[in-house]
Amino acid sequence: MTAKLPTQLTTSDAWKSLAEHYEQIKDKQLRDWFAEDAGRAETFTVDAIGLFLDYSKNRIDGETIKRLIALAESAELQPRIDAMFGGEKINITEDRAVLHTALRAPRDAKVEFEGENVVPEVHAVLDKMADFCDRITSGKWKGQTGKTIRNVVNIGIGGSDLGPVMAYEALKHYSNRDLVFRYVSNVDGTDFFEATADLDPTETLFVVSSKTFTTLETMTNARTARQWLLDGLGGDASAVAKHFVAVSTNAAKVKEFGIDTDNMFVFWDWVGGRYSMDSAIGLSTMLAIGPKNFRELLAGFHEMDTHFRTAPFDKNLPVLMGLLTVWYTNFFDAKTVAVLPYDQYLKRFPAYLQQLTMESNGKSTTLSGDRVDYDTSPIFWGEPGTNGQHSFYQLIHQGTHLIPCDFIAFANSLNPIGDHQDYLLANVIAQGEALAMGKTTKEVEGEGTDPSLVPHRVFEGNRPSNTILIDRLTPAVLGKLIALYEHSTFVQGVIWQIDSFDQWGVELGKVLAQKIIPELQSKDASLSHDGSTNQLIERYRHLKA
Ligand code: F6P
Repeated sequence: MTAKLPTQLTTSDAWKSLAEHYEQIKDKQLRDWFAEDAGRAETFTVDAIGLFLDYSKNRIDGETIKRLIALAESAELQPRIDAMFGGEKINITEDRAVLHTALRAPRDAKVEFEGENVVPEVHAVLDKMADFCDRITSGKWKGQTGKTIRNVVNIGIGGSDLGPVMAYEALKHYSNRDLVFRYVSNVDGTDFFEATADLDPTETLFVVSSKTFTTLETMTNARTARQWLLDGLGGDASAVAKHFVAVSTNAAKVKEFGIDTDNMFVFWDWVGGRYSMDSAIGLSTMLAIGPKNFRELLAGFHEMDTHFRTAPFDKNLPVLMGLLTVWYTNFFDAKTVAVLPYDQYLKRFPAYLQQLTMESNGKSTTLSGDRVDYDTSPIFWGEPGTNGQHSFYQLIHQGTHLIPCDFIAFANSLNPIGDHQDYLLANVIAQGEALAMGKTTKEVEGEGTDPSLVPHRVFEGNRPSNTILIDRLTPAVLGKLIALYEHSTFVQGVIWQIDSFDQWGVELGKVLAQKIIPELQSKDASLSHDGSTNQLIERYRHLKA
């Protein structure tokens, strides 16, 4: 690693200067900031690569941004960005490079990993995927009984599911409606059952997506799918070759499962699971939206990559958003961030971001192996607007927690109907205004409100938000949005001095589950867990039919 291991964060000058600044501005009201400075909105807006980010409704002034950027500089953010794009093994606990940005590099780009340009391999796989998609959609690819494929079922979990599901939903407008898409992730048999209950096996293709090809949930679902297929097709094992393809880094395991490696789409060790949706893990996405739209999606990612790598920090969308998250998490003690897309197509975007942000930055050990003495990742959550407004927004407006919000909105609907879009946009703009400006006691009294109700109807305001306003949701725009959050997550991880690319925290539960499986399947195996765990296992054995 070129960037040196960091020093103690909270005793650094940059951190102390932010702490001091926080004391000076913590009670300052957004109302006053806007009243004092007619140019505030313009000052705190970045209009770049088709995304218009208005971050003026944050509890910041020019000095805040200056000091946050000084923090980023003291964390050596630029060298860390360069190290990531340059293929260095910045995932130090797994000794891996972090090169998802190479997945969306243009054909003529050069991205080196261990002295080799990986771009030709990346494009060779994209071409193989495109060729496969053409064979499926043209009907040249036939199932075992000679029928064309009508149903595509992606089997995967975590990064091998959330990206494909989110992108399928987000880009449904661009999708091929002749094909049915289903996604099976949960090891709960209900997920598989409901996804396939109305499908005809003779017309169904399974895409088994797993980086490791060892994940319990995915392998269990894949075995069940094989059985379901063979049951439906009379038991001839040769049907597997016509109805299963695999996406993985692990050719040996794919072969062992019984899928011909000719029907395998590879990706690489330097692609993390939660950063893999634009690798071959996106095969179901490409099948849905077609190779051309998929390439546009990748081009959008790449545009954001270039912006992140080259824009000055004070005009850099992921840098600013990442630093604002640090500002609220570590100085205002905010515990969560709400991501609120005002577009129904983005309904799975918050769920996708949960893995991206929390599996990346939910850590408490620094790169040097010390326990952090500050908070790391906030909890990301959200729902599409306007639904959330009739549910949890009450708490955001008047509750006791400070919840920074990211509003994402599009000027043009992909399905323009009557006044719907004006109503939708009026709502998102109103929410940001209400959160920031609130409603004072005087204003509530001025409306002739019953005095006993006045305190209930006051809105404190001063609640921060970002608004990202975009022309319309296209594949390229989706790519830009995802890359925006990927890089913002990386910025946060760099400041917090953690490894944003490992996920050791998911291991212990997996190992314990493997121990518990045979204990549940035996009536009398002796148990040596704690009392509560033993009791639950015994109760399960007792209840199990
Ligand atoms: O949840 C842990 C995890 O390793 C994720 O990081 C990953 O996206 C997911 O499991 C699935 O892993 P795989 O693609 O290897 O099946």
